[in-house]
Amino acid sequence: MRLALNPPYVSTSFHHTLSTTLEEDALAPLFGGVEWAGTRFWAAAEQTIEVLQERKPDLSPKTKRVLELGAGLGVPGICVSEMYDGVESVIVSDSENLLPQLTKNTESLEKVHPAALWWGDDDVSLLSKDGNGWDLVLCCDCIYEPLYGDSWVKLVDVLVQIFSLNDKTVALVSCERRKGDRVEDWVTMCESKGLAVSMEDRGSEGCEEMQWCEGQRTGKVEIFTLTK
Ligand SMILES: C[S@@+](CC[C@H](N)C(=O)[O-])C[C@H]1O[C@@H](n2cnc3c(N)ncnc32)[C@H](O)[C@@H]1O
Repeated sequence: MRLALNPPYVSTSFHHTLSTTLEEDALAPLFGGVEWAGTRFWAAAEQTIEVLQERKPDLSPKTKRVLELGAGLGVPGICVSEMYDGVESVIVSDSENLLPQLTKNTESLEKVHPAALWWGDDDVSLLSKDGNGWDLVLCCDCIYEPLYGDSWVKLVDVLVQIFSLNDKTVALVSCERRKGDRVEDWVTMCESKGLAVSMEDRGSEGCEEMQWCEGQRTGKVEIFTLTK
């Protein structure tokens, strides 16, 4: 997959090639669990990159440290490292099983660092070297109970911990809506923990009318902005 960013969002054109080709040992665990979804690039990630471009005037001056959760291929994290002028470091995190893919795809990028982080098992604060957390946190297409079970509850805990490290953090959480995803419950739980959540409906890519079909992608993406 070839990734290209062009002016005006970056000062000079940026091209990067991503691969999902892995050695057998690294590939096998992905098909024993749910992380296979992290080997694809999803509509929610694409919409997040557009939102990052649109909000560049507001977000770029405040953004030095970035954390992407459930990053999969890590495309939004990679893009923001090039798009936003003052970015110093981007951590792209996901299951340990996806680390070989993330490492391979980021090894030529100085500012982007892969990390293993499984919500509910690992402590996100250990990824913050200075203990001051992150300015911007991204999480794309990770809330879908039929596939990931109650990891949406664990995501709330991780976000609460992130905001306790830095109450100025802005988090963008994007969701491609699917039947039974539990996104509304996730919003309610975030609000009950004192986080402010606003939603932007990005519409439905390629779907005139959204159809709820079991297991079928809708293309309808919502982006939630979280602040303390
Ligand atoms: C549909 S994929 C999205 C990948 C990428 N963010 C994108 O939008 O292209 C969902 C990702 O969420 C991750 N995920 C699900 N539950 C998780 C958990 N408890 N901790 C960390 N990552 C999780 C999966 O490993 C997978 O990479």
